[in-house]
Amino acid sequence: MDTVNTDSLVLLSKLEVMKLFVDTGDVEEVRQAAEWGILDGVTTNPTLIAKSGHGFKETVLKICDLVPDGEISAEVVATDYDTMLKEALEIHSWHPNIVVKVPLIEPGVRLVKTLSDKDIKTNVTLVFTVSQALMAAKAGATFISNFVGRVDDISDDGMNAVASTVDMVNTYGFDSQVLVASVRHPLHVVKALEVGAHISTMPFKIMAMLFKHPLTDAGLKRFLADWDEAGLSIFPKA
Ligand code: G3P
Repeated sequence: MDTVNTDSLVLLSKLEVMKLFVDTGDVEEVRQAAEWGILDGVTTNPTLIAKSGHGFKETVLKICDLVPDGEISAEVVATDYDTMLKEALEIHSWHPNIVVKVPLIEPGVRLVKTLSDKDIKTNVTLVFTVSQALMAAKAGATFISNFVGRVDDISDDGMNAVASTVDMVNTYGFDSQVLVASVRHPLHVVKALEVGAHISTMPFKIMAMLFKHPLTDAGLKRFLADWDEAGLSIFPKA
């Protein structure tokens, strides 16, 4: 019987671990999230960059420096193919970690195919249905950003399209990674795990909430009170 190479199994499982991205144009939020040691990338969009109050290129490059091994999404803003292509190649030229973000519109899908053929990573955004996700996957999208919160905001279940997209990618063996976006609360991240999404991107405040539980706080408080009451010390007493 062939022996199982455990190294490859560990590598495979490592590759399949969900990536966590922070969805922001705020450099200080990226800095704090990067310090936690669990950050795999950053997604920006025109609204987030506008809110930053700083220039697009300078903001994206600062973020690239803060997450040296991360995948950093930066979005084109034109809506015609020729200008989108010029913008995409300009953004791509800024830093090797940049992923060019493209809206799911017809010229955007055409652009993703062009960029995929040039081995330029893409993140197809504003995806709400599995049929839109199919277009992105067929074009060779690196990431497919299924928006969840904006669907929930109109009283539907945004996670349904995520689950269908994950099934589609797995069934047909697309190379695209399903990125859950427009996250409104930690439960969206939990649901993303349950449906097997590859990536969750979320506002900084949501990522910070993932650490929190009142029983953790209460339990730590009790540990430390009992330790102090016993007059114990880790280091030799002077
Ligand atoms: O940046 C992409 C997406 O996460 C933004 O979603 O609904 O929070 O604006 P939203």
